[in-house]
Amino acid sequence: MKQFKYFKRFSVIIITGGSSGIGCSIIKAIVNIAPEAQLCNLSRSNPDISLGNNGQHYPVDLSDAQALAEVSESLKARIESAPEGEILLVNNSGFGDYGRLPDLEIHKQLSMIDLNVRAVVDLSARLLPVILPRGGTIVTIASTAAFQPTPFLATYGATKAFVRNWSLALNEDLRGTQVRTLAVCPGPTHSNFFKAAGFETPPMDQGANQGLDMTSDQVAAYTLRAISKERSLIVTGWKNRLITFFGSQLPLVAVTRIGAGILRKMRLEKHKAAK
Ligand SMILES: NC(=O)c1ccc[n+]([C@@H]2O[C@H](COP(=O)([O-])OP(=O)(O)OC[C@H]3O[C@@H](n4cnc5c(N)ncnc54)[C@H](OP(=O)(O)O)[C@@H]3O)[C@@H](O)[C@H]2O)c1
Repeated sequence: MKQFKYFKRFSVIIITGGSSGIGCSIIKAIVNIAPEAQLCNLSRSNPDISLGNNGQHYPVDLSDAQALAEVSESLKARIESAPEGEILLVNNSGFGDYGRLPDLEIHKQLSMIDLNVRAVVDLSARLLPVILPRGGTIVTIASTAAFQPTPFLATYGATKAFVRNWSLALNEDLRGTQVRTLAVCPGPTHSNFFKAAGFETPPMDQGANQGLDMTSDQVAAYTLRAISKERSLIVTGWKNRLITFFGSQLPLVAVTRIGAGILRKMRLEKHKAAK
């Protein structure tokens, strides 16, 4: 009920990657609690859920800098003509790619950096001038992978460390304005993520990460609660919080070695699944 009241402040809500997983769950929840808001989804494919009465899908590949620049202009015009109210931007689109260099396709690695990092900074920077006069919240979906190097997901983990730190620093840069930021760090979540990263079966369905996994609806619920509480950083769930806390107490080199042991096992599972 409290959340319902809080979300009434947003007149335009922009989310990237609402066509599946966590983004799709966030849209489903937002349509319920902020039915009046103009909901804009940015992804390559159309979400097969309702975007509400005032919703619009913007088909765009956000790893393409030119396409991002063009869609930003449409969004700016939309914000400028929208009724009074704050703006919520959720940078959620992202993907991982499992394996190690030089086996991994370099084009995919660079597209990942484009989507997970460049698009987040670019879209936020382009929209900030129209968000600042109205106030609002910029949410970025990072990951528990942001807290330590992640062998076999080296580029992915580094992109998430970037956006976690960037989001926290931006929050301080924006202090004194009516705009705040939130970095969300989910642990393993059931979505299309693992398939997109090259797994036939998500690691948690093979017995790894047991008890840490969540549904995308659960991650969406944590995210919306954190927005309404005006938090700047959350790790979803106490088990993920415990792991990131203990991990941060160990020397980085040791944490990286331990992570390599766990993630190497997943690589074997991936290869087994691929046979
Ligand atoms: N699942 C996990 O275990 C987990 C854990 C921590 C953090 N995360 C993060 O959570 C976020 C959402 O992932 P998810 O788990 O919900 O995975 P998902 O089901 O694969 O969803 C990814 C979303 O990103 C969009 N996307 C991918 N490439 C895009 C592109 N080039 N341009 C625009 N949109 C693009 C996809 O839409 P289209 O394909 O239609 O473009 C899709 O809607 C990601 O940032 C991910 O890194 C996931």
